[in-house]
Amino acid sequence: MSLIEQAAQRLEQLRKAGVEIPSSPAESPAQEPGDSEGPATSASQPVALADETRIPEAKNVQRDVGVPTSQEHLSRRVEVNPEVLDASYVIRPDAPRSQLADEFRIIKRPLIDNAMGKGAAPIKDGNLIMVTSALPGEGKTFTAVNLAMSIAMELDNTVMLVDADVARPNLLNMFGLPPARGLLDVLVDESVTIPQVLLRTNIEKLSILPSGTPHSRATELLASEAMVRLLEEMAHRYSDRIIIFDSPPLLVTTEARALASRMGQVVVVVKAESTTHADVKHALAAIDSCPVRLMLLNQLKSPVKDAYGYGYGYGYGYGK
Ligand SMILES: Nc1ncnc2c1ncn2[C@@H]1O[C@H](COP(=O)(O)OP(=O)(O)OP(=O)(O)O)[C@@H](O)[C@H]1O
Ligand SMILES: [Mg+2]
Repeated sequence: MSLIEQAAQRLEQLRKAGVEIPSSPAESPAQEPGDSEGPATSASQPVALADETRIPEAKNVQRDVGVPTSQEHLSRRVEVNPEVLDASYVIRPDAPRSQLADEFRIIKRPLIDNAMGKGAAPIKDGNLIMVTSALPGEGKTFTAVNLAMSIAMELDNTVMLVDADVARPNLLNMFGLPPARGLLDVLVDESVTIPQVLLRTNIEKLSILPSGTPHSRATELLASEAMVRLLEEMAHRYSDRIIIFDSPPLLVTTEARALASRMGQVVVVVKAESTTHADVKHALAAIDSCPVRLMLLNQLKSPVKDAYGYGYGYGYGYGK
């Protein structure tokens, strides 16, 4: 007797015994792939139905697949024009090898290791990385964007780039994107969630959280308890992601210090041959409580050896 005939016979026996057998395919649990006990055709459905031990398992499978575990599907997708990135000197995943890309390969490594718990010691909220500087115009946004692009090029890492410079936001501009809702909207309106304002991009593994709708008390919001709670939620909900915050400068704002105190790692960008030693010292002192502080020398004009012994003609190097 074939398997189908056996199944039909078993069904008949069950019916005679008074067992109600649903006939609609929609009520049937899925046939498991590779199940050798029944043929992989629609004819196998009644057999699976009659086997009561398999029904709860099949329902579970259906629920897990059908209901998304996050609200990520709410996020809008935006297209970043590669030409805009080229014009802003932003490294691109598909571009040929460049000196800037090589420099960021070195810069990102210790940050990723710390974020993923592979550093010398475990770091609380190591995946929250703030990019700041002592003064305005030292290259924070440029660094945050290139760092995010470089990390997004890694096979294992997903990046969220946050514009936390709420008083002078410039992130969307750097990507050639129009203004959009973001961080401030989440902070002022409890009904707005991060997934609703997060922008997914055509750069795989990179999403952007804009600063959002301008607000007269933007800087207070950034230093508020609501922001602290939001950061805790972000560190928890997106623990598998590296979150990079383009931030205000430390010496001319107070909210940057408040933000830094909640970060696992802080990168202090220093414009070479421009920012004074005293300003750099004050900036580092302002973020004393942060577990990891890295100083990044930007726009070097002359060849130097960096902390890792590499020589650069221009661009970046970690300061000691
Ligand atoms: N290493 C670099 N190579 C080329 N251009 C750079 C470099 N660093 C910064 N720039 C350019 O310098 C200008 C200022 O940089 P950026 O906007 O990143 O500074 P910022 O610290 O974010 O400023 P603000 O405090 O106003 O937010 C930008 O036009 C940027 O493209
Ligand atoms: Mg900036």
